[in-house]
Amino acid sequence: MTAGAEISGLHKSYRLNDRTVPVLVGLDLVQRDGITVVVGPSGCGKTTLLRLVAGMERADAGVVRVRGTGRIGMVFQEPRLMPWLTAAQNVALGQRRGRCDTTALLALTGLAGFEDALPHQLSGGMQHRVALARALANGPSLILMDEPFAALDEQTREGMQDHLLEVQRTTGMNVLFVTHSLDEALYLGDRIVVLRGGRIAADHTVTRSSGRRTREPDDALARVIRTTTQREEP
Ligand SMILES: Nc1ncnc2c1ncn2[C@@H]1O[C@H](COP(=O)(O)OP(=O)(O)O)[C@@H](O)[C@H]1O
Ligand SMILES: [Mg+2]
Repeated sequence: MTAGAEISGLHKSYRLNDRTVPVLVGLDLVQRDGITVVVGPSGCGKTTLLRLVAGMERADAGVVRVRGTGRIGMVFQEPRLMPWLTAAQNVALGQRRGRCDTTALLALTGLAGFEDALPHQLSGGMQHRVALARALANGPSLILMDEPFAALDEQTREGMQDHLLEVQRTTGMNVLFVTHSLDEALYLGDRIVVLRGGRIAADHTVTRSSGRRTREPDDALARVIRTTTQREEP
C-alpha cells in the first residue's frame, strides 16, 4: 500500500507579539513512494510542515492525512536519546504497543553488538543510528526526518545517508526528508520539492540514468533547484 502524507490547502501562521507571521500559505503536497526531500532556506517553514504532518501542531486551515497505517516515526537533528538507557532500551521507547525486536532494528541500522551500550559510549553517528532504529520501532509507514544529519561531519553524514537508503530499501517505508543541503537532496531524493513563499514552489522527480545514486549529481537539476530556492521573493 502506498503510504505517505497527503496535504492540501495547508495554512499556518504564528503570532509574534502583536503581529501575525504567515509561514505556510496554502501548501499542497501528495507524497509518492520513496524518499521525498523538502529543500528550502532556513526559516521557510520546513520544520513547521513536518510538525503539522506529525500532528505535533495544529493547522489554521487545510487537511493533512497520512495514508497507510498512520503510524509515523520521527528523526530530529539531535538524536535525543535518554542518556541513562542502553541503545536497546532507547529503541524500545519508540514502540507504542506490542513489542519490537530491538536487536533486529539495531542490526538493520548497523549496530549489531551495541545493544547494551549507553549513548555516551557511542559516536555521534552511532547515536543517530539508534535514533533511526527508535523511529522504526513502531512499524511506521512514514518516517519524518528534520535535517537529521546536519550536525554531523561530512564522512559520518555520508555514511548515515547510505544507512538510510539501505533501511528504506529493506523496509519499503516512505520518507519525508527535510534538508537545506542541495547535495543531500540530490543524493537521497526520489523527488525533490522546493518550499518557498509558504508553498511548494517547484517539484522535481529525480531520474537517475544509471539507476544508481552517485555523489556527482545531475548538474542541470541542481541548477534548476538552486534557481527556484534562491529567487527573490516577489
Ligand atoms: N512556535 C513559534 N512561534 C512563533 N514563530 C515561530 C514558531 N515556530 C516557528 N516560527 C517561525 O516560523 C518560521 C518558520 O520556522 P521553521 O518551520 O522552523 O523553519 P525552517 O525549519 O525551514 O528553518 C520562522 O520564521 C520561525 O521564526
Ligand atoms: Mg527547521
